[in-house]
Formats: sequence, C-alpha cells, structure tokens
Amino acid sequence: MQIFMDSASVKMIRDAVQHGLIDGVTTNPSLIAKEGADFREVVEEICRIVPGPVSVEVVGKTYEEMMAEGREIAKIADNVVVKIPMLKQGLRAVRDLSSEGIRVNVTLVFSATQGLLAAKAGATFVSPFIGRLDDYAHVGMDVVRDLVAIYRTYNLAAQVLAASIRHPRHVVEAALVGAHVVTVPPPVLEQLVKHPLTDVGLERFLADWQKVPQGIFGLPR
Ligand code: G3P
Repeated sequence: MQIFMDSASVKMIRDAVQHGLIDGVTTNPSLIAKEGADFREVVEEICRIVPGPVSVEVVGKTYEEMMAEGREIAKIADNVVVKIPMLKQGLRAVRDLSSEGIRVNVTLVFSATQGLLAAKAGATFVSPFIGRLDDYAHVGMDVVRDLVAIYRTYNLAAQVLAASIRHPRHVVEAALVGAHVVTVPPPVLEQLVKHPLTDVGLERFLADWQKVPQGIFGLPR
C-alpha cells in the first residue's frame, strides 16, 4: 500500500520525503488556503520535492471550467494528478482529461456507486472520505472495501485512495481491506512512526549500555 501525505505544507512534505515516509501527496483547496502562499509556487515546489503523484484540485464547477483548470494544472509538472470532485459534469471531465493522458483523482467520494462511476470514467485514483463518513455514523471503511472488491472483479484500473484519515487504526484497516493508497495528515503520519514502548525500550537499552566500558568499534560515545 502506498502512503501519501494529505498536506500542502512544503516544510512537512520535505521532512517526510527526506525520511522516506511517503510515496506521494494529496492537496485540496482548504489545505492550500491554509498555507497562505502563492498557489502555483506552492504546487511547483511540492512537485519538485515529491518523487510520486501530487494531487491538485480544480475549483471550477462546470465541465468547461474543470477542463480548463485541469489542463493548466496538468502542465505544472509530470507528477501532477488533477483532482476532480464527484459530480455528474465532473465525471465527464474525468473521462475527457483521462483520454488526453492526464491522470485524475476523483475526490469527495462517499459511496460505492460514486466510486464505480469514477473508475468507469477513467480515474487513476478514487478517493473515498473515511473520516467524514464516520462522522455521520456510517462505516467509511466499508466503501473502501466495496471498491477494492468491485475494481478487482471487473478489472478496473482505478486505485482506491483512502482519504479523510483521522487516526492510525484507519491506516491499518485500509491496508487490511486492500486499499491501494492511503493519504494521511502530518499528525497521523507522526503517530504511525511512534510507539511509547519503543521510546521506553530504547532508553533502557542505552542506560544499560553505559555499563559497557568500550564504545562501538572505537567510535566516540
Ligand atoms: O484531502 C481530502 C481529505 O483527505 C480531507 O480530509 O480530514 O478534511 O476530512 P478531512
């Protein structure tokens, strides 16, 4: 399963890439707005830092606007993926952008029927929003599970990208049901790395090591 970072923070993305933690990035208009910087500059910088796919969302709501914005966004870098909202006119744009060779991520997916249509339209990634479904007492992960099964049954090329991830358990569940990608916000990415028993264990090992007179192969202690 690939792990993407759901963020537009150049600083946090750079750190995650340096540590080899992420395979790609997803952004959305809210995340870009939070950075308060020039849209194009931020996106260009993120695309330079990240070796894998970087999703950038259109904000137009008509087919024509989505096509025009999608084509412009796609010119920014080879690793850009255009994010299109799950609307009827959006599906048309997904089909036509995909046929031009532009990779598309269909966002704001909340049901398996939406995800099926997005895949049939030619999406490269389809993003069900897990946390936001959970907020309404649905089981968001069911949509991920259904889509993984449907795409496998019908040999659809789309990848299920589990989004709106709120905690590490979501990541584990997404992996167990076979999501191709999970996109996590920076605090959750930190949580994936850490475990308190690791910290306690390391402290104990290092305290015990003080009782050993030599350093390791002459390296300074
Ligand atoms: O980027 C799309 C999605 O991951 C947003 O998540 O936390 O705003 O529901 P959230």
